Amino acid sequence: MRILIVGGGGREHALAWKLANDSRRPTLYCAPGNGGTAQIATNLPVEAEDVDSIVNWARSERPDLTIVGPEAPLCAGLADRLTELGFRVFGPSRAAAQIEGSKVFAKDVMRAGKVPTAASGVFEEPEAAKAYVRQQGAPIVVKAEGLAAGKGVFVCETVAQADAAIDETLVAKAFGAAGRRVVIEEFLEGEEASILALVDGEHIVMLASAQDHKRVHDGDRGPNTGGMGAYSPAPVVTDALWPVIREQVFERTLAELKRRGITYRGVLYAGLMIGPTGPKVLEFNCRFGDPETQAILPRFHGDLIPALEACIDGQLTDALVTWTPHPCVCIVMASGGYPGPYSKGKPITGLEAANGVEGAVVFHAGTRLQDAVTATSGGRVLGVTAVGPTVAAAVTRAYEAADKIRFEGAHFRRDIAARALKRTATTG
Ligand code: AMP
Ligand code: GLY
Repeated sequence: MRILIVGGGGREHALAWKLANDSRRPTLYCAPGNGGTAQIATNLPVEAEDVDSIVNWARSERPDLTIVGPEAPLCAGLADRLTELGFRVFGPSRAAAQIEGSKVFAKDVMRAGKVPTAASGVFEEPEAAKAYVRQQGAPIVVKAEGLAAGKGVFVCETVAQADAAIDETLVAKAFGAAGRRVVIEEFLEGEEASILALVDGEHIVMLASAQDHKRVHDGDRGPNTGGMGAYSPAPVVTDALWPVIREQVFERTLAELKRRGITYRGVLYAGLMIGPTGPKVLEFNCRFGDPETQAILPRFHGDLIPALEACIDGQLTDALVTWTPHPCVCIVMASGGYPGPYSKGKPITGLEAANGVEGAVVFHAGTRLQDAVTATSGGRVLGVTAVGPTVAAAVTRAYEAADKIRFEGAHFRRDIAARALKRTATTG
C-alpha cells in the first residue's frame, strides 16, 4: 500500500510514524516532509500548497491513499481534485473546509445550528467595527476572517488594542484578502481544550482530548504561536462533558452543514473554551491539530489506516478507535526568536539520545537533512514527545529527552501539562 502525506510539520511526522507502524507496513511519501519523515518516507520536492504539483504526482504515481495535513491545500480544493480523479483522500472537500477557511462562514453555521460560541459581529468597514468595540467594551477579540497561519487573532485587553487590530487587518491589510472582513467576538473565560473527531459523512468518533499551549512563554505569557506543546488527555474535559460536546458541538455543526448540502469527511477539530456555562467553540479546523496530533497519535491503539479508510467509505465505528490509558506529553522546541524572525540551518545534536529515553519519540517539524546532518529549517523545530504511566511520568520523560537535544538558540516551555498535573494533584 502506498500513502501520500501532504505537509511537512510535526503533525505529518507523527502521522508518518504512526502509519509506518501499521500492520500493512505501507510505503510512505511526504510532500514536502522534513528531516524526520526522510527517515521513514520518501520526501517529495513539492510544497503542501502546490495543489497542481500534488495532483500531477498522484496522476503518475497513483497512491492508494492521500492524507492531507494542513488547511491551505484543503481550502484550495485538493481533496475535491483528487477525488474527481478517482483517488482516495482523507480530508474534507473545499466546501466543508470553509469551516476553517472562513470564520464568517463558521460563525454563521454555529448561529444557524445553535452551537454554543462567543457572541460576535462581522465587519468590513473599520468605523463600524470600532463602533461595535465601543458598544461592547474590552476585553474583546478581533479575528481576521480567513487563513492567517495562526496570526490573525488578537485578544485585546483594551479598546485601543482592538482599534489597532482593526486598523492592522482592515486598513493596513496585514493579512491581505484573508483580512477583508473581521469577526469581533466576546472574550470568553475558562480553560481551553482541543477535541478532534473523525467524521465519515454520517458517523462521528471523537478522538482523545488534548490541550495546546499557544503562548510562547511559561505561565501563558508572551505572544501567540502555532503551539508550544500539548498533552493528552486533558482532564478539563470531564466525563460529563463528552456527551455535551458530542451533541452541542459536533452533531449540531454537522447537521447544519448537511442542511447546506455539505457532507463532511475527515477530521473536524473543535477548539473549545470550557467555561462556567459549559463548552463554547473558539474555532473549527478542518484537519488534525498541530501539536495536538503529536500528543494524541502515540496513544492511538493499534492500526490507524482502517479508521482513516472507514472515514472515506462511510464505515466509521467506535471499535476502530481505541486508546491506551497512558498520558502523552509533547514539548515543542523552537528556534531562537520564534514566533518572531529566526535563523535557520542550525545543526541539531542529541536526537538519538532523546529517542532512547523510555517512552519518548522525537517528532520533527522545522528540520531538514543537510549532508546527513539534521539542521533547523523552521520556527517550531521538534516535538519532543513521551508517554508514561502517569502525567507526571510522561512530563519527566519528555523533559529528560528534550534536555538531551541541543541547537543554537533553542527554547521551549518548562510548564507543558502543568494544568493537568495540578488537576491530578487536586483530584487525586
Ligand atoms: P483561534 O485561532 O480562533 O482559536 O484563536 C487563537 C487563540 O486566541 C485561542 O486559542 C484562544 O487562546 C484565543 N481566543 C480566541 N477567541 C477567543 C475568545 N472569544 N475569548 C478568549 N480567547 C480567545
Ligand atoms: N494547535 C492549533 C492548531 O492546530 O490549529
